[in-house]
Amino acid sequence: MNLLHWPVRMHVASLSVSKFCFLFSLAFCGFLLLLIPALQPSARKVDLPLPRPQVRPSLASLSHHAVVPGGFLHAGNTDPITGLSRSSAGQERLNLTGMMMTVPRGVTDSRRGPRGGALPRGKVGGHSGSRSHDKLELKDIFIAVKTTRKYHKSRLALLIETWVSQAKEQTYIFSDGEDKELRLRTGANIINTNCSAAHTRQALCCKMSVEYDKFIESQKKWFCHVDDDNYVILPSMLRLLSSYHHSQDVYLGRPSLDHPIEAAERVKSDGSMSVKFWFATGGAGFCISRGLALKMSPWASLGNFISTAEKIRLPDDCTIGYIIEALLEVTLTHTHLFHSHLENLQKLPTDTVLKQVTLSYGGFENRRNVVSIFGGFSLLEDPTRFKTVHCLLYPDTEWCPKLNPWHRN
Ligand SMILES: *[C@@H]1O[C@H](CO)[C@@H](O)[C@H](O)[C@H]1NC(C)=O
Ligand SMILES: *[C@@H]1O[C@H](CO)[C@@H](O)[C@H](O)[C@H]1NC(C)=O
Repeated sequence: MNLLHWPVRMHVASLSVSKFCFLFSLAFCGFLLLLIPALQPSARKVDLPLPRPQVRPSLASLSHHAVVPGGFLHAGNTDPITGLSRSSAGQERLNLTGMMMTVPRGVTDSRRGPRGGALPRGKVGGHSGSRSHDKLELKDIFIAVKTTRKYHKSRLALLIETWVSQAKEQTYIFSDGEDKELRLRTGANIINTNCSAAHTRQALCCKMSVEYDKFIESQKKWFCHVDDDNYVILPSMLRLLSSYHHSQDVYLGRPSLDHPIEAAERVKSDGSMSVKFWFATGGAGFCISRGLALKMSPWASLGNFISTAEKIRLPDDCTIGYIIEALLEVTLTHTHLFHSHLENLQKLPTDTVLKQVTLSYGGFENRRNVVSIFGGFSLLEDPTRFKTVHCLLYPDTEWCPKLNPWHRN
């Protein structure tokens, strides 16, 4: 009896030991697997908008972190990309208390997800995974240019001749008048919004509303809005957007102020309360991921944008910021790679000009406010510097001067 029993018990015991070992190693592997995404964000937080609490406080570094994937970053605490951003970055660092106040919001945001705290981690994992086999191409970006009939000849023609020519399919020009001649001559996508040509809040919001609807219709991954005095450096734009995923909530742009704007809350409440939010200045251009744009729909689609703007009585770009930051509680990712004519463009270091995402020029009021870049054309021949920039980016363009004398033969 005993003799028979002994090996059986041995067998059972060894079985349970090996079972235990197996289960333990399984649990250990599981634990390690859980650890991987937990370790990942700290290593890659540089180029991800999530998790927000890590990214948001270091706004100063964000602008150049955002360009890390493109590989034109120098290490260090000061921003090597723009002299400009160095000063604004300093201001943002000073107002770190203001930034910190937004941190808990980011945390609660993520906890609200169906899977609780695991949501941002999952998102990050999905993002880095899809980045490898879902490479962003220029055709995935919808570029909206806002203009008005009056500027078709002066401003728009220059854009069509330069950067738009390199992105004809995905660039849509939103104007307020028919221009069959320009459309036929250049082959550009010119959309007559039928909005008023006045430079009023209503007219500007009317155009933004049409831009939004056309983007949603387009099925493209990114919505980027620029003005008719912006030069878009397409390779930089592609590089910047490639560091995010279009299914994430991404709102990228340059804040025009060094503090958030405050407005009476008239959408979610009766206007007795006020809300604070950041917005990206429209004059420098901004980009929104498709994932986020879809969430904006209740306040932005099919004319709703106009009524939202009317309710809070703010211009088009502020209204975008209001919908995203105040209503959807998604934070603006501040970047200094976008530039408007309101800045001192001469301050932009020459060797960083081609690394920016958008450029601008001073226009009538301030003709000398242009980026300092050399080659191609003189200031007299190219007062906006856009042609010079274009020839440095695309030297094979037929109208570009051949800089190398040996090429003349
Ligand atoms: C910093 O931000 C806070 C809130 O975001 C704001 O109340 C404060 O005025 C800002 N300070 C400066 C110096 O801009
Ligand atoms: C503007 O009006 C024209 C003529 O009525 C129409 O064909 C066009 O679709 C309208 N544009 C928009 C964006 O609704």
